[in-house]
Amino acid sequence: MAKRKTVADFIALKKTGEKIAILTAYDAAMAALLAGCGVDALLVGDSLGMVVLGYDSTVPVTMDEMIHHAAAVRRGAPGAFVIGDMPFGSYQSSSRDAIINGGRFLKEARCDAVKLEGGLEVCATVAAMVAAGISVMGHIGLTPQTATQLGGYKVQGKDLESARKMVEAAKGLQQAGAFGLVLECIPDQLARIITETLSIPTIGIGAGVHCDGQVLVTHDLLGMFEKFIPSFVKTYTSLSPLIKENVTRYAEEVRQGSFPDAAHSFPTQCDFSELLGQK
Ligand code: KIV
Repeated sequence: MAKRKTVADFIALKKTGEKIAILTAYDAAMAALLAGCGVDALLVGDSLGMVVLGYDSTVPVTMDEMIHHAAAVRRGAPGAFVIGDMPFGSYQSSSRDAIINGGRFLKEARCDAVKLEGGLEVCATVAAMVAAGISVMGHIGLTPQTATQLGGYKVQGKDLESARKMVEAAKGLQQAGAFGLVLECIPDQLARIITETLSIPTIGIGAGVHCDGQVLVTHDLLGMFEKFIPSFVKTYTSLSPLIKENVTRYAEEVRQGSFPDAAHSFPTQCDFSELLGQK
């Protein structure tokens, strides 16, 4: 089994120019599969809320839900670098709350690091968490927890002024001690400038090829979430039709009595006939 990566390994990968591949995971079975495919880290994203829990946004996701799923991911992939996503309301109120909730990801779910959304307004919180021993990944650009304030799920940093603010936020988060930075839905040239400005790795999602690494929601990549597919997502395969076809076949076979057949049953080795009619 490959050695579990550390924060230092991610900084080193940036230096050597090796790209970093991250995917989301929410349960043990998928985590085990993904970890076996050479993915560098697993993100237990708060996208959990929409992809797995059926909420209409990431906002309702609670700390307890995140911990429950992050712990499952850790059990499924003991050798993976696992990042827990701080849900809305778990870090905005105070640095103290952020340290308590970030600490839960490390202690209860055995995550290696946490991620949180926001720019300059969260830098003091990030610094306090890092000082408390919690490795933090930042997340700027489109920040889904505050998407309504940003005018919806839209590309961010399109004009010079907002792009300038984003570069400042990226520098501030690095200065605060973040070990990496997710850039979501921003123009590729802005992502390039941020990537070249920072010494910590940038992880893009809808931010073009110049980032140090990429992250995708696994259910999007595998074509298992049909409600909404962002245009930057590459659907590598479409599992939904495959799942529907095979589950339909199963249900038909159960109804027809052709499943289970002899090959999927335990043969009877004893004469049970005297049990017939017993009260
Ligand atoms: O919640 C999530 O899955 C994320 C990634 C898409 C970056 O934050």
